[in-house]
Amino acid sequence: MFRRRPLLPLTALALALGVAPVPAHADVFTPGSAGLGDPYFPKSGNGGYDVAHYDLRLHFDPKTHDVSVTVVIKAKATQNLSRFDLDYSGPKIRHLEVNGAAAKYARHGQELVVTPRKGLPSGSEFTVEVAYSGRPHAIKDKALGLAGWVETKDGATVVSEPDGARSWLPSNDTPQDKATFTFTVTTRAGTTVLANGEPVNPGIVGVRHGWSTVKWEMRQPMATYLAMIAMGKFKVAEGRAAGVLNLTAYDPSVAKRSRHLHTDTRKAIEWESKVFGAYPFSSVGGIADKLDVGYALETQGRPVYDGGPDNLTVVHELAHQWFGDSVGLRSWKDIWLNEGFATYAEWLYEEQHGGPSAKSTFAKLYKSPKSFWKRKTGDPGRNDMFDYAPVYQRGAMTLHALRTKIGDSIFFDLLKEWTETNRHGTVITRDFIDLAEQKYGQDLDPFFDAWLYTAKKPAV
Ligand code: TRP
Ligand code: ZN
Repeated sequence: MFRRRPLLPLTALALALGVAPVPAHADVFTPGSAGLGDPYFPKSGNGGYDVAHYDLRLHFDPKTHDVSVTVVIKAKATQNLSRFDLDYSGPKIRHLEVNGAAAKYARHGQELVVTPRKGLPSGSEFTVEVAYSGRPHAIKDKALGLAGWVETKDGATVVSEPDGARSWLPSNDTPQDKATFTFTVTTRAGTTVLANGEPVNPGIVGVRHGWSTVKWEMRQPMATYLAMIAMGKFKVAEGRAAGVLNLTAYDPSVAKRSRHLHTDTRKAIEWESKVFGAYPFSSVGGIADKLDVGYALETQGRPVYDGGPDNLTVVHELAHQWFGDSVGLRSWKDIWLNEGFATYAEWLYEEQHGGPSAKSTFAKLYKSPKSFWKRKTGDPGRNDMFDYAPVYQRGAMTLHALRTKIGDSIFFDLLKEWTETNRHGTVITRDFIDLAEQKYGQDLDPFFDAWLYTAKKPAV
C-alpha cells in the first residue's frame, strides 16, 4: 500500500488549463516500470501496482539449509498493465501464476519480469503466486555488507536493509510500498520459528513426521526490508510491555549477553511510548542470534541483534519502531530520518536515566575534526548511508540543535506529532522541516540547510 499526498488529478489539471480532458485509453496497456528511480537504489521497487499483502508459505530444513517458498502476493494495478516486474534475486523459480493462470516470466538481473495472459486493468486487484526451491544467499554489497537471507549454524535469519528482501522474497522491494504479511513456516520439530508480529493461535498449526508448522502474522503495514523470519535453536520469553505482547528470544550460544534482553525491551518500549507517543504495533520483542553481519536491524515489532545487545542498542532498535518502521522512508537518501532519530533516542534515554545529558554529548561531538563534517547528513551517498559520523551522530546532533533552537516544549510536541501524523505512512525530509516550521512558527530552512545539506560544520 502506498500512502502519499494526492496530486492534482489529470482531469482537474486539464480543466484548469481549459483543454478537454484526455480520454482514458482503456484499451492501452503498457509495462510497469522496472524501478522507482530511488537515487541510491534505482532498480528497487517497481511501477504500476501496489501490494496489499504477502501470504508466505516457507519450508526449511535446518540440516541442509534447503528452502521452498510459495508466496501469494495480493496487489492492485495502478495503471493498465501489460506486464510488471517484481524484485527477486533468489533461487530458480518453479512456477509462477497471475490470477490463478500460469504466466510467462523472465529474469534480468534483480528484475523478475512477469507477463500475464491478459492485461491487468488499472484499479483491478490481482494475485501473483511465485514458488521456488533452493538455497537463498544474502546479497553481498561491497560497501554495505550482507543483507537478506543469512544462514546460521542452526538455521537461518532474515535481515534485509536496504535491499536484501529480494534475496529470498519476490517482492516490490521498496520502503514506499508497505503491506501486511502472513508467514506459515514448516521446519523440523525442535527448531524454533520466529517472525514479525504475533503467532496465530494455536501457535503450532501442525506436527507431522518430525516436521512442525507454525503461523505468524504482521497485521500492520510493513516495508519488505523489515520482514523477518528467524529459525534455529532459541530460548523464548513471553510477557507484556506497553500494553502488548513482549516476545523475545535468544540463541543459547549468545546467552551470556542476552539475559537482559527481555526486560531491557520492556523498559525501553515503555519509556519510548511516553516520549514518542503510542507504540505503533500489536506486539514487541527482540531476537539475539549469532549472525556475524556486524549490525542489528529494526525488523518490524521484533528487532534482530547480532549477538546479545547492550541496553542502548535495544533502545536504538526499538526507537526505530517509530522512526523508520511506522514512519517509513520514501527515499533512502533520507536515512537520517531513521538513524539520526534512533541515535537521538539513545541520547535522550541516557539523559533521563542518570547518564550524560544530550547537551554534553552534543558538545563533545561538536569538537570533532574536519573529517566528521565532510558529508551531507541529508544525502550521505549510497555507500555511506550507514556511516556513523555523518548519518547517526550528525543526524542526532541536528535534532539536538533543533531542540536548542525551538525549545523543549515545542521539540517534544513535534516528535509526538511527527509519529502520530505519519503513523504507518512514508515521509521525506521536507515533511519534517514543514512540520517543524509549522510548530515553531518561523522559517527553519537556513537551519536545516546548514545541518543537513552542507558538507561542513554548522555554526551554533
Ligand atoms: N539500521 C541498522 C541500525 O539499526 C543498521 C544497518 C542495517 C546497517 N543494515 C546495515 C549498517 C548495513 C551497516 C550496513 O542502525
Ligand atoms: Zn539504526
